[in-house]
Amino acid sequence: MIAVKLLITSALLLSVDCYIVDPGPKVIATKGEVWPKPQLQQNYDSYFIVQPQIFEFRIIWDGYQKGRDNFDSSSNIYYKKLWLSDDNYLGYLSTLNVSLHGPCVEDEYPSFSMSEEYTLVVTDRTVELSSNTTWGILRGLETFSQLIYRGDDTITLRINSTVIMDYPRFSHRGLLLDTARHYIPMDKILTTLDAMVYNKMNVFHWHIVDDQSFPYVSKKFPELSEKGAYTNAMVYSPSDIKEVIEYARIRGIRVLPEFDTPGHTRSWGVARPELLTECYSDGYKTGQLGPLDPTKNDSYSFLQDLFQEIGEVFPDEYIHLGGDEVDFDCWESNPDITAFMEKHNITGQYAELESLYIQQLINIVDELNSKSIVWEEVFVNGVVLPNDTLVHVWKGGWEVTIFDVTATGRPALLSACWYLDHLDSDGDWEKFYSCDPYGFFGTDEQKKLVLGGEACMWSEVVNEYNVISRVWPRASAAAEKLWSSENVTDVTDAAKRLEEHTCRMNARGIGAQPPNAAGYCL
Ligand SMILES: *[C@@H]1O[C@H](CO)[C@@H](O)[C@H](O)[C@H]1NC(C)=O
Ligand SMILES: *[C@@H]1O[C@H](CO)[C@@H](O)[C@H](O)[C@H]1NC(C)=O
Ligand SMILES: *[C@@H]1O[C@H](CO)[C@@H](O)[C@H](O)[C@H]1NC(C)=O
Ligand SMILES: *[C@@H]1O[C@H](CO)[C@@H](O)[C@H](O)[C@H]1NC(C)=O
Ligand SMILES: *[C@@H]1O[C@H](CO)[C@@H](O)[C@H](O)[C@H]1NC(C)=O
Ligand SMILES: *[C@@H]1O[C@H](CO)[C@@H](O)[C@H](O)[C@H]1NC(C)=O
Ligand SMILES: *[C@@H]1O[C@H](CO)[C@@H](O)[C@H](O)[C@H]1NC(C)=O
Repeated sequence: MIAVKLLITSALLLSVDCYIVDPGPKVIATKGEVWPKPQLQQNYDSYFIVQPQIFEFRIIWDGYQKGRDNFDSSSNIYYKKLWLSDDNYLGYLSTLNVSLHGPCVEDEYPSFSMSEEYTLVVTDRTVELSSNTTWGILRGLETFSQLIYRGDDTITLRINSTVIMDYPRFSHRGLLLDTARHYIPMDKILTTLDAMVYNKMNVFHWHIVDDQSFPYVSKKFPELSEKGAYTNAMVYSPSDIKEVIEYARIRGIRVLPEFDTPGHTRSWGVARPELLTECYSDGYKTGQLGPLDPTKNDSYSFLQDLFQEIGEVFPDEYIHLGGDEVDFDCWESNPDITAFMEKHNITGQYAELESLYIQQLINIVDELNSKSIVWEEVFVNGVVLPNDTLVHVWKGGWEVTIFDVTATGRPALLSACWYLDHLDSDGDWEKFYSCDPYGFFGTDEQKKLVLGGEACMWSEVVNEYNVISRVWPRASAAAEKLWSSENVTDVTDAAKRLEEHTCRMNARGIGAQPPNAAGYCL
């Protein structure tokens, strides 16, 4: 509730507080504006009317039919023909001409290096959409669908003349979803992927397991989820995971799995306690288990088998290895670990032990031809990392950390300013919108090493009932920062477009919360 407080002082020195509220919505939604804002767009006032029944797609290519089904469903709505005598009216839009230039054979899966560039020209009754890749066509179709808006009669569908040349500012535009603190059912994961593509996000970072539960069903180690999941039903079977990967693939979204070690593994120890460190107090076992025990050879052969499976199940070239918040106290308390460190001449620095662990894990992942991503602690603790390991920056003071990471020539991802579990008030997206991944004092070369970022939905207080409304449209703010030009920073302008975009997501079945206080959707 936003109210204007006026202090009126009368001649009698009486003061009265008045709360003045104008009728109507706080922010008037735009009509037919695109979110995230395209890199280059020339708008015109002339417009066409779109008739879903006669509208046709002209060119069909492999993998396209599914994208078309998806697109059709959003335009398959009731419309009414109207007589118009208006100079700006250019007639019915007849055709979308989709031209896919580029190689005949393209990657089956979306990847970090895919091109998402496209051109969309709406100046003639035939709309021209062209790109060198299917991924670009998908992004262009999304843009085209967003350009369509309801005319003042609220029934006719219109599209203004426009020319758009668009491409993302960053290649990695992710959303992290934690499915371990609360199990998130499949339908909500698929809805999340739908919403991601409406926001042109392209990496689903699946934080699939953690201390609290292990819902990933391993083919090699089924006991991990049998004992470590909350219940037998709260698991992701191999076919569930396949479904998520395929659903994401046809939307141009990568699925980046995270198996966080050596910390955050308590649920692994329900079935396999021998993997974890036994914690001691005053020389006695406390019965508690800490991080993975980095001194045991068996741990590494287990990890080798597990990560080999992960590499086979998830086609993405990257695997997120976690590495955050390792509890050194438990390692320190354990006499076997102390003895190991003495034997290996590790003099009291537990980060060195972590280093030993992470290096072996990265070697395992390297042999699978996968690339590694780690949380920032791994870098900050001084673990020796390969040059191409991506460092994921998530803590306060990120400007310093990301400077340090990129100063060593390593690539970085930013999440520090996009923690969706940090609640503020109202629509709660402007703080996300005010963060820019280049907002640190680095050279141009350092900034080029920032490959993108992710909004993170940690699920301690999020489950199937509130996950969608907590994420959307707040994550949309991060999506625009990661796609649009660096100079797209105007919050007032964004608020109007986000008002429209949120209503659009609602109309498409995404339970996004209102972004801007009082208002309504048609
Ligand atoms: C579309 O055209 C109408 C006039 O026909 C104009 O009022 C409106 O601002 C235009 N919208 C955009 C997004 O350019
Ligand atoms: C569709 O686009 C292609 C490439 O831009 C062009 O060659 C072709 O003539 C267009 N077709 C129609 C019917 O406009
Ligand atoms: C598309 O491919 C052509 C030829 O391979 C190339 O010249 C052009 O730059 C590419 N366009 C984009 C947007 O990548
Ligand atoms: C663990 O592996 C190392 C190196 O492969 C080997 O030297 C050591 O003997 C092994 N330790 C045990 C207890 O098997
Ligand atoms: C232990 O490390 C120290 C410092 O790195 C080195 O000087 C010493 O030679 C090492 N001792 C053994 C037995 O490797
Ligand atoms: C990693 O980076 C360092 C410092 O920039 C450089 O000396 C080294 O050759 C690089 N290693 C590889 C494998 O690229
Ligand atoms: C933002 O930058 C783009 C090029 O990246 C330029 O075309 C556009 O005019 C700029 N917009 C503003 C508002 O400066």
